[in-house]
Amino acid sequence: MRRSLYSISIDREELRRFRKFFVVRNDLENFVTFEAGRRRPIYNWFYYKEAFSPELIFTLLDEFGITNANIIDPFCGVGTTLLASVERNCNAVGFDILPLSVFVSNVKLQRDYDMKLLREKIKEITSLKFGETELKWPDIKFISIKKSISRYARNDLLFFKERIMEIEDEKIRNFIFLGLLSISFRATNLVRDGGVLKIDKSKRRNQIPVRHLLRNKLKRMYKDVKNNLNKFNENVNAYAKVGDARSLGIKSEFDLCITSPPYLNWVDYTKIYAIELALLGLSYQEILELRKRSLRSHVGAEYKIRKRIKSEKLESILENLNKFDVKSPEVLRGYFEDLYLSLRSIYNSLNDNAICAIVIGNACLPGITVDCDVILAELAEEIGFSLKRIEVAKVRWCGVHGIKKERPVRESIVVLET
Ligand SMILES: C[S@@+](CC[C@H](N)C(=O)[O-])C[C@H]1O[C@@H](n2cnc3c(N)ncnc32)[C@H](O)[C@@H]1O
Repeated sequence: MRRSLYSISIDREELRRFRKFFVVRNDLENFVTFEAGRRRPIYNWFYYKEAFSPELIFTLLDEFGITNANIIDPFCGVGTTLLASVERNCNAVGFDILPLSVFVSNVKLQRDYDMKLLREKIKEITSLKFGETELKWPDIKFISIKKSISRYARNDLLFFKERIMEIEDEKIRNFIFLGLLSISFRATNLVRDGGVLKIDKSKRRNQIPVRHLLRNKLKRMYKDVKNNLNKFNENVNAYAKVGDARSLGIKSEFDLCITSPPYLNWVDYTKIYAIELALLGLSYQEILELRKRSLRSHVGAEYKIRKRIKSEKLESILENLNKFDVKSPEVLRGYFEDLYLSLRSIYNSLNDNAICAIVIGNACLPGITVDCDVILAELAEEIGFSLKRIEVAKVRWCGVHGIKKERPVRESIVVLET
């Protein structure tokens, strides 16, 4: 991170009160993304671009001097916090609105496999000859499954799913099904481009058959289990559950929260992971329901306010943002109301003197830069947290309307204490 870029990013009058809290953390730059974790066994079983790396959790646990703690991640994604916590002998619980993320997290946390049976079942599934299936793809309307996946791959994905579902041993069934889910996107003609799925013709030309993708994936996953499971202490407990971070309903149970909510970037997770959600077995209606219930960081979420939030701070922040001519201003209101609700529910779930570290990116909209890290800190203070630091891991130039280098935006870790 260039020092000058960092200085410009905090050099604004309205950020004056926060200047003493800002800390440059070049060392965390690669840890706030999935990249550093891509080579890590088990963590890399499912590619989730929005995930952070386990190195971030290890670094924070060392810095906070935390051992044997109960850790919560209310936006757990594919379970990075949970798995890293277990590696450091901590209990951990995660929540996510997407059943896909919860499934991935829980399979990564599985232990005590019957290794002989696992090997046999992998061999059995990957040696199956081509066959027909009774299963059907749901019509998810916002993507044409027919155009996105070749006829062979469409059939193969469902054929393998059907056979995998016949495996009796639940852990082994889940393990092999995760293998299939994680290669499913590679078997399509789609690419993820920011927040949208696009057909990529070159992918169609270079398509690798599902059975080869699956065989290779399961081989790697099996090796990971064999080489790494002894790293995990059997006496610690970690799991993920489907849940809404805005209403966890937990009272004083955790010593530490490490999490990262969706960023204010209009990305709809139910769109970019639609193929995997459909393969998991969700119908179009169920996907739409999830979309509505997800954090209001995109236009597909439900914008009806369920409960009025009484916060003058929130209102004054929103009033300030309203001065700018932002397209879909309801997204801004929805996003910060949801952050407020999530912070309140996280605060309630924590013990006294607990720490909460939240990874968040600032938003770059036409006309304004939204300092989500600072706004989150202000809302957290209003709820009762005390702000310790805003650790700036990354600053990049944001380009709006093709104008490069317009304004710098930060990606930060806001460190709070109860
Ligand atoms: C930035 S990602 C978290 C990634 C995670 N740190 C990891 O390493 O995998 C944000 C997550 O929040 C989830 N999410 C969206 N709305 C939610 C809600 N209302 N409650 C809980 N999770 C939600 C998304 O499904 C997504 O997995």
